[in-house]
Amino acid sequence: MAARGGFSSKLGFIAAAAGSAIGLGNIWQFPYVAGQNGGAAFLLIYVGWIALIGLPIMVGEIAIGRRTQANPYGAYKKLGGKSWGLVGLFGILCGVMILSFYNVVSGWAFGYFLQVSFGDLLLEQDFSGFFGNYVTEFEDNFVYSFAFMVITAFIVYQGVQKGIEGAAKLLMPALFVLLISLIIYGLTLPNAMDGVRFYLFPDFSLINGTSVYSALGQAFFSLSLGMGALITYGSYIGKNDNIVSSAALVTVTDTLVSFLAGLMIFPLVFSQGQSPSEGPGLVFVALPAVFQTMGPFIGKLVGGGFFLLLCFAALTSTISLLEVPVAYLVDEKRWSRKKAVAVMALVVFAVGVPSMLGFGAVDSLTNLAYYEGTVKSAMDLVQDLFYVVGLPLGGFLMSLFIATRWTTRSMSDEISHGNSSYRGSILEKFFNIMIKYICPFVLGVMFVLTMLQKFFGVAII
Ligand code: TRP
Repeated sequence: MAARGGFSSKLGFIAAAAGSAIGLGNIWQFPYVAGQNGGAAFLLIYVGWIALIGLPIMVGEIAIGRRTQANPYGAYKKLGGKSWGLVGLFGILCGVMILSFYNVVSGWAFGYFLQVSFGDLLLEQDFSGFFGNYVTEFEDNFVYSFAFMVITAFIVYQGVQKGIEGAAKLLMPALFVLLISLIIYGLTLPNAMDGVRFYLFPDFSLINGTSVYSALGQAFFSLSLGMGALITYGSYIGKNDNIVSSAALVTVTDTLVSFLAGLMIFPLVFSQGQSPSEGPGLVFVALPAVFQTMGPFIGKLVGGGFFLLLCFAALTSTISLLEVPVAYLVDEKRWSRKKAVAVMALVVFAVGVPSMLGFGAVDSLTNLAYYEGTVKSAMDLVQDLFYVVGLPLGGFLMSLFIATRWTTRSMSDEISHGNSSYRGSILEKFFNIMIKYICPFVLGVMFVLTMLQKFFGVAII
């Protein structure tokens, strides 16, 4: 086992798993999605999904990982035979595809960090136009996202303990300090409370079937569930670590950071009268305009601090996404870590190039598909297939796997290591019922409904 590496302690695992969970999903996506879907009303639904589905799936994934000490493919194969191995392979594929576009957005964040801190970005007149232009420019994006991938690869190459755990233990506390400082600063600005009100006022009239589903997708994405990232990280933890309390801590931390990200962003946005419903451009369009009004020095400091935070959050996530296919190649194909990292980083980067070009640089990639009544870009399509549909599908298959093949009894056995009071406890009953009945049923139904709605034009929810 020593050859595979492992975390040094329970805390090491928690830092790395929280690092994986906390990312662009929390800071870039959650605030604008919540803002568009009824604020606190969305938050409530989101928390419901997290508690009922997210936490049990996370516990299940970690248990499978620690039991098998393997990557997702190896893990399913060991416990369920070759055909279940396909579920693991599908997860690894989802990871590769998610990283391919995630790295593009990380590249934007990295470019913004450099150009806000050391360039003239804050002197622009029209940030919406600037962002629209920025994403079409191939060379800049190519360079920044390539650089981001190289940094990710370098850390993953250093191995589980020195690289992944070391980076998370450094970057996570830094992220918290930046986040809290920006919240405190934002709350002191005029009209900050309007932002808080906008964010936290529960508007249930904005909730519909689509928001309920997007809250589920958001929960899977934000917790890094459904593709085996936590099977992989779970394979690196000690037999005596408590899986349930670790998973609970990661879940709570991740949810807290999503919540706090909104509390950081909306007061800033409202203080300068920017639009809170900017959508995906929220952090790249509304926020630079806010930083601009702070004057050249404070603007660079606060704005640079913000984009640095975004990069830190993204980096601990790209690390976890790259580690999954790397662990697969190391375990199954006996590649050296060095070769696996180098090859995989290049492959994933190349797979992401169409996503990068689909923002206006290449017409056919910008208008690649048409469904749900709108034109979709390459990145939209990849996101829908491998994140919106793929992750909950992966969760469905995992719960089905435990329910019908590995058994909840074996899951309990694994969790009981490092948690002697687990067996017979109310928690055990809760997780078993969720994994055996509720998760397969709910996720199966949600999968069918989304497929119908997205790709067949049948809106039922
Ligand atoms: N959770 C990360 C975020 O919120 C993204 C991420 C990292 C992820 N690893 C993952 C998503 C694995 C799904 C699966 O930004």
